[in-house]
Amino acid sequence: MRTWLRGDDLLERAAIRLNLAPLPVGLTFFGMPAARTLSLAQKLGVLGAVARSPATAEEVAGAAGIRPPGARMLLEALCGMGLLRRRGDRFGLARRARRWLSPESPRYIGTFLEHTHDYWEWWGELERVLREGRGFQIHAAARDAPSWPVYIRGQYELARLSADDVARALKLPPRPRSLLDVAGGHGWFAAALCARHEGLRATVVDLAPSAAVGRQIIAENGLSERVGHVEGDMFAVDLGGPHDAALCFDIIHHLSPEQVVLLFGRVRRALRPGATLAVLDMFRDPGRRPRASASFFRLFFHLTSGADIYSREQLAEFLAQAGFGAPRRRRVRSIPDQALYQAEAI
Ligand SMILES: C[S@@+](CC[C@H](N)C(=O)[O-])C[C@H]1O[C@@H](n2cnc3c(N)ncnc32)[C@H](O)[C@@H]1O
Repeated sequence: MRTWLRGDDLLERAAIRLNLAPLPVGLTFFGMPAARTLSLAQKLGVLGAVARSPATAEEVAGAAGIRPPGARMLLEALCGMGLLRRRGDRFGLARRARRWLSPESPRYIGTFLEHTHDYWEWWGELERVLREGRGFQIHAAARDAPSWPVYIRGQYELARLSADDVARALKLPPRPRSLLDVAGGHGWFAAALCARHEGLRATVVDLAPSAAVGRQIIAENGLSERVGHVEGDMFAVDLGGPHDAALCFDIIHHLSPEQVVLLFGRVRRALRPGATLAVLDMFRDPGRRPRASASFFRLFFHLTSGADIYSREQLAEFLAQAGFGAPRRRRVRSIPDQALYQAEAI
């Protein structure tokens, strides 16, 4: 894929490297159309139309319900980003993009792209959130909001990229029987652990609209015998147990420190002694220069829940307060921006 932000050709790349080109202009002026055209192309079915077989702008316009001149501009912008290729008057997916954008690919992330289309409005709230210091609550969306299936299927697509590696990295107690996946949504991390450990069954706890989608995903994969969903608020619902292991993945960045301790305490009471709690999330290292992606995520979570990402030291403190031992890091190469920790129930 062409790294268009770094320059389309040698001359542009050299100008950027030598700081002769106003990169900040590129960031604002090109950042917005890149995000909007791509997420809209996914939402309108443009990417799906060209993924099936190369198509003309007129054919794509007909499939997406837009007008041919605009369809051509959209398709050319996608070519500019290196995602499509044009041969004659037909547009198709670029070879490198197939891995992510072809619905047949096991690494397809199209539904996640579609969900990012909603983020446009969310980022529009940034000024207000920064002024008032209070984010909005994405998980408070109405139960029947159409965004839930897109959200949870998008998260499933991302989880598919790393779930096997995560399951391999986690050390569960011998012959585990019962796993609790808190805020597990699609349930795919639990499913990967069940595939690895014979005799293991998982309970995924999530809000009703997420659980409904997760249940469907698990059924489509023929795994309903091993992975069940329980609908409810993780702070109120019965977490069952005693379980041999629990997952809290991609959830604590939505919570205040008090809520994290409360949640870990509830999970601790649903585990047997010696059981393990695994936490997968972004963590910041106050001693290091943050990666650009980590600082964007931090802003994003502040925007969408008013919370923050925590440091490893804070995580250790939260776990200790809730009755867990010191967390140990497990390396997972397929998720470089995140870290996986495990702590034992004392
Ligand atoms: C970012 S997704 C993470 C899903 C999954 N754990 C993963 O790592 O891919 C956050 C999940 O938290 C769930 N969630 C948020 N607040 C919750 C609550 N109060 N009780 C239960 N689940 C909640 C959402 O519905 C969503 O499925």
